[in-house]
Formats: sequence, structure tokens, C-alpha cells
Amino acid sequence: MTLAAFNMESNPPMHRTVMKDEVVQALRSVDSGLCIDVTAGYGGHTEAVLRTYPGMCVVAFDRDPQAVAASRERLACFGERATVVHAEFSQLKPWLYKNGISQVDAVIADLGVSSPQLDQGDRGLSFRFEGPLDMRMDPSRGETAKELIERLGQDDLADVIYQLGEERSSRRIAACIKQAVAAGEMNNTLDLRRAVVKATGVRRPGGIDPATRTFQALRIAVNRELEEIASLLGQLHEIVRPSGVAAIISFHSLEDRLVKRCFQERALWKRLSTKPLLPSASEQDDNPRSRSAKLRVAARTGLMQVPTPVPEWVDPWESSR
Ligand SMILES: C[S@@+](CC[C@H](N)C(=O)[O-])C[C@H]1O[C@@H](n2cnc3c(N)ncnc32)[C@H](O)[C@@H]1O
Repeated sequence: MTLAAFNMESNPPMHRTVMKDEVVQALRSVDSGLCIDVTAGYGGHTEAVLRTYPGMCVVAFDRDPQAVAASRERLACFGERATVVHAEFSQLKPWLYKNGISQVDAVIADLGVSSPQLDQGDRGLSFRFEGPLDMRMDPSRGETAKELIERLGQDDLADVIYQLGEERSSRRIAACIKQAVAAGEMNNTLDLRRAVVKATGVRRPGGIDPATRTFQALRIAVNRELEEIASLLGQLHEIVRPSGVAAIISFHSLEDRLVKRCFQERALWKRLSTKPLLPSASEQDDNPRSRSAKLRVAARTGLMQVPTPVPEWVDPWESSR
């Protein structure tokens, strides 16, 4: 049995919802109406919102078919109050428009990947398990990490690793990855980690694994995560009604910078705090993955916006169902 298969069998997928109470509290000024959870994941935030606010319905989006299936099952007990949609952020406004909804009362987002996505070796997102060089959150579409690594030239690969992983050894790492590709030795996650370690040396005592930043960079690139966040933030002021609320958890500085900049638009948003909220000390102790979380909350200002034209909703998965 491979390590990945062992990991799947011994640890069934689970995700511990980060800053659940803080997100629920962020919605207290709206407390009824329609909330969109753009990152359903395993339904943790959606469930908490539905339980706390009986007057609220939630439409939850996720691009990962496994997350969609799991959250549908978890939320089934809420009947028509919960709808789970297999779609990406960029499809949000077209989906709302197609369903006759022009504005909503709240939007929540818990960016990044879920623990099951990281912990299932067969998704290829972790250097801790042997798995295919895939990394797609939605395995039904788009380029895999292997295809991306093969397509990019060495300099472009180094730029991706530098910009999205903030990795200072990006040039050496890209050279070692490309050497492994040329030798036919870049076929799984352990090959990728080996190429990074060849470039950087082994982990320093107390430091992070040398492959951490490279895996992060390739994951962000494969899933076009920053483009998706920019698309979400670009739609947000038209979707959230005046006095409605947006609450967004980010996990690294590239994400947080985009969210911070969005909420700094004073004509559109009133920040509920200038500094981001952080998980409590007990949550950080209890769930180490929460440690890098930052929650930013803002209320929509002003009068109703005239929505800009909406591109047609095209269900990208229709043919694959
Ligand atoms: C951190 S998890 C959310 C966990 C969830 N809040 C919970 O408590 O169970 C992030 C989820 O967002 C999804 N996701 C990330 N980027 C997305 C995008 N652009 N469009 C739709 N879903 C996305 C991922 O597939 C993942 O399931």
C-alpha cells in the first residue's frame, strides 16, 4: 500500500472550521436573508450560520466536486435553506443573475484549501505524501501541476515560484526541477520535493520544510487562485446590498493584500475593524492550521449600485456530469 492510500484509509477526510464564531458574529447586523458562502468546503461555516440565524438561507459555492458532495450531505438537514453549487468565484454573479437574485445580505469566504484536499495524497497538494503532480482543486478541468511545470520555461517557472511562493531560491529550484523533467524524473510529489531539496539543502532545525513555498506557489498557479480572488472581490460591491456584510478569511499575505485593498475603498466599504481579526490563542493551539488565518470584515456603504452587465451563466461541468 502506498503512503497516500494508507493515509486515506486511516484518516477519513475532515476539516476543522477556522474562526467559526468570529464569522458568525460578523453577520449579526444582517442576521436574516440570503448569505453566500463562496467556499463551502465541508460546510462548517455554512452550518454555523444556518444554526445561529434561523431567518437566513445560504447558497454555498465550491469548485471541488468532493467538497460539494460532502457539504450537500452535511447540510441536507436544513432542506431548502441550504443550496450547494459546484462553481468557482468567477461564476458567482452570472449564477445569481440566472437565478433572479440581484443582491444578497452577506458573503463569506474562507480562502485556500481544506484539510482533506491537503491530506489526501492522491490530490498531489502535499509534499508529505506520494501522489500525482496534480494539485487541481477541481480535478475535472484545467492544467495539472505536471503539465504546468513541463509547459513553462525555466525562467517563467522561477518567476512563479518567486512571486507566488515568495521563495528566494526560486532560480536554483526551477533549474533543478527542469533537470529532473529532462531526465524523466518528475512524476510525482516526492520527485518535486526531491528536486527542491537538491536546490536548497535539507530543512534547518525548527524551520519549515524546504518544499513548502514551492508547493504553495505551484498550487496557487495551477488553481489561478489570485485571479479567482480578484474576480470575487471585483464582483463583491455589486452583489452585497447596502449595509450588507462581507467576511473574508485569508491564509497568506498575497491573499490578504488583495482583501485589504478591496475594503480600503471607502466609497464602497466600511471596515468593521482596521486590523484583521486573528484566531484566539486557544484555537491556534487546538488547530495549528488556523495560525496564519486573518479575518477581514466590512459592511457595504451607500445606495444601491446599478449592476454592470452580466456574462451568460454557462455550466462548465454540464457535459461531464
Ligand atoms: C478552507 S476550505 C473551506 C472550508 C469551509 N469553510 C468549512 O468550514 O468547511 C476552502 C474551500 O474553498 C474552495 N475554493 C477555493 N477556491 C475556490 C474558487 N475559486 N471557487 C470556488 N471554490 C473555491 C476549495 O475547494 C475548498 O473546498
